[in-house]
Amino acid sequence: MRKCFESDLEHLEETAAKIAPLLPENGVVFLRGDLAAGKTTLVKALAKAKGCADEVTSPTFSIQQIYDGGVAHYDLYQCPNEKFVEMGLLESLEAPGWHLIEWGDEALENFLKAHGFETAVVTIVPTFSGRRYEVTTDA
Ligand SMILES: Nc1ncnc2c1ncn2[C@@H]1O[C@H](COP(=O)(O)OP(=O)(O)O)[C@@H](O)[C@H]1O
Ligand SMILES: [Mg+2]
Repeated sequence: MRKCFESDLEHLEETAAKIAPLLPENGVVFLRGDLAAGKTTLVKALAKAKGCADEVTSPTFSIQQIYDGGVAHYDLYQCPNEKFVEMGLLESLEAPGWHLIEWGDEALENFLKAHGFETAVVTIVPTFSGRRYEVTTDA
């Protein structure tokens, strides 16, 4: 399934509330887009849509951050997949809830799919007035 949404910052909460039900309840969501596309901002809005009260920050944390309400956030910028595996993060993806990944590559996506993980991709592209969010799911 593929669906597109367009939103500025002001309407992002509403947009996230529309995107949220399209995502696998337990699965991995790849957030794709250039630097400053709005990946972390979308994580914040999605976490809020899920009722997460924790503050979502730009990931200055090391690779993985777990928020309440079943939301985990990963930033794999310059993190080789081998390191991700060595750190035991592959296992952590089996925890119930959303695993929202920034900078996860296609090799990781294909690997996870082949191992039975439910996945979705949100591609973010800047537009004149905000961002376009293209949501692709397996279903
Ligand atoms: N839908 C949107 N409309 C307008 N500005 C946005 C939108 N989403 C994010 N931004 C802005 O884009 C900038 C970069 O966002 P950020 O989430 O840090 O990007 P990334 O994590 O992809 O590097 C921030 O200033 C943020 O406020
Ligand atoms: Mg970011």
